[in-house]
Amino acid sequence: MICTNYNIEDPTKLRAATGPISVPDLEFPYYNRMRLPLGCLLLIVATHAYLIDSGATGRRLDGFGAISGGGATSRLLFSYPQPQLDQILNFLFKPQFGLSLHHLKVEIGGDGQSSEGVESSHQHSENDLSYQRGYEWRLMVEARKRNPAILLSGLAWTFPGWVGAGTSSPWTNISLTAGYIIAWLQGARSTYALDIDFINADMNERG
Ligand SMILES: *[C@@H]1O[C@H](CO)[C@@H](O)[C@H](O)[C@H]1NC(C)=O
Repeated sequence: MICTNYNIEDPTKLRAATGPISVPDLEFPYYNRMRLPLGCLLLIVATHAYLIDSGATGRRLDGFGAISGGGATSRLLFSYPQPQLDQILNFLFKPQFGLSLHHLKVEIGGDGQSSEGVESSHQHSENDLSYQRGYEWRLMVEARKRNPAILLSGLAWTFPGWVGAGTSSPWTNISLTAGYIIAWLQGARSTYALDIDFINADMNERG
């Protein structure tokens, strides 16, 4: 199976076409071989017909994003040796190259099972604080190194028990929850020079 993406080299040719355009019917030069297996997903999408109307108003595609979260989904990435590690990171984040992600959302590790595994929290207890745990910090640093404009966001899948003030709900004492999230943002800025674009003080699939 050949994986493809839509590398439209001459958009004027598309505009000249009339009626709905079946993407697989586009001329051969519009196709480029995709460099990542994810391109296979695009091929599945491409079996449907789309009308490309350059004069249309409404929602537009702002880009593509990816999540590193749901428990340890990036755990093995940094186990790759060089130069393969750099190659993978380039395919993910380098603009105009491979996947060229525009947005990276990471899990705010909460010491709890969050689907595929457990990610370490920056605060195991109220009096504990470390920004040296886990791999999400490094992933964000590598992303920004390759694309300074990439959007970053954070979301918790679980919270350490103390954030729930002894209950299972992280919203029992909102001051604790807010302080916990703010500490994560502060660590991103002070330790890694990362300004986070979006933060969600909620919990994945809850609230
Ligand atoms: C909520 O947590 C804050 C910060 O630890 C504390 O000062 C406050 O007393 C707590 N509120 C309640 C109602 O327990």
